Amino acid sequence: MILPENQRKRLLEKGSFIPFHRPWFSGKELAHVADAVNSGRLMGAGPYAGRCEKMLEAALGCKRVLCTNSATAALEMAGLLLGIGPGDEVIVPSFAFVSTANAFALLGATPVFADIRPDTFNLDEEKLEQAITKKTKAIAPVHYAGVGCNMEAISAFGLPVIEDAALGLFAALNGRPLGTIGDFGVFSFHQTKGLTCGEGGALAVNRADIVGRAETVLHFGTDRAQYLAKKQDSYSWCEKGSSFSPSELCTAFLLGQLESVDFILESRKALWQGYHLALEDAEKKGLARRPVIPEGAVHNACQYWLLMADAKKRDLFIEGMNRAGVQAASHYPPLHQTPAGKRLGRSVGHLSISEDIAGRIARLPFWTGMDKSAADKVIDTTLKILARL
Ligand SMILES: Cc1ncc(COP(=O)(O)O)c(C=O)c1O
Repeated sequence: MILPENQRKRLLEKGSFIPFHRPWFSGKELAHVADAVNSGRLMGAGPYAGRCEKMLEAALGCKRVLCTNSATAALEMAGLLLGIGPGDEVIVPSFAFVSTANAFALLGATPVFADIRPDTFNLDEEKLEQAITKKTKAIAPVHYAGVGCNMEAISAFGLPVIEDAALGLFAALNGRPLGTIGDFGVFSFHQTKGLTCGEGGALAVNRADIVGRAETVLHFGTDRAQYLAKKQDSYSWCEKGSSFSPSELCTAFLLGQLESVDFILESRKALWQGYHLALEDAEKKGLARRPVIPEGAVHNACQYWLLMADAKKRDLFIEGMNRAGVQAASHYPPLHQTPAGKRLGRSVGHLSISEDIAGRIARLPFWTGMDKSAADKVIDTTLKILARL
């Protein structure tokens, strides 16, 4: 399914290879990084982290945002803050990234895999009742492709909710930004996301009673935040934590992206809409299904997917695209079928939708600022390959 390296090189040399992803730079990142370097302060929780956190808090309207090394780190922080440990269970969708489950397995808890909805590929709220036991400590739904889960139904169980909004920054549900509805929201600034600093993330802490502890957990489980704020002249170990705070080199870079958020979102939404319109007829002909955006959801154009009629056609589609020099990709393998998922997790029922969607989904190349000729090539190639599946 992967284009042979020599063929990929040839296409790259000809300038006609369209990769799945390309990072976009605003041009402001290097000036901020140079400033951080010249300031002599590279360690975390400095002025650049502070500026990114203030921008995110203002944009999301949430109590406290903490910059972290990744969404994975933010999920681990949320698990620590809820005191999750051995004997506990956390409900997660099976169609999710490894970290959505691993963060809780790392603490000795059991990830409980529930199935997803066939329309949005989000956690199926109707499967939750049978997933909940006396041991359930939290629910961690993923807002797949930046489209909000049914948060009202998920929150109705009264359990703590950790929104995995790694793909959902600046998307919203019924007017509320994703990541600010549950107890915690988790965001990713990994290279493939809309806003990036290579590797990075953030934790939105939506409960006022946990903000102080969140800063402690961020700093190795110590009250170092008080020391850095010059409120005390030393710091000590207060609870379990880790080194979750990113270097100023990362947050300086990230600030350059946050300053261009309007352009980033506009550009991605235009590309998403261009794909969506161009593929309308193909959907009508039954060649592939396009994304569904439910009423009340505003997505963030983090990616564009198509659903093929069956797994064989999906594999042929990806192979055909890659041979034509347009890199398409599948997505998460269902976690309950992975070696660690089988060993460390528990499944609720058959999870047939997760297995089915994972086998049929294909994602198209997607990046901020993709030019018209590249977008046209993606569309033309997609239509051509779909027509001969
Ligand atoms: C749903 C979900 N959660 C968590 C992550 C992990 O993000 P990070 O690489 O920032 O740790 C990803 C990565 O793509 C993801 O898709």
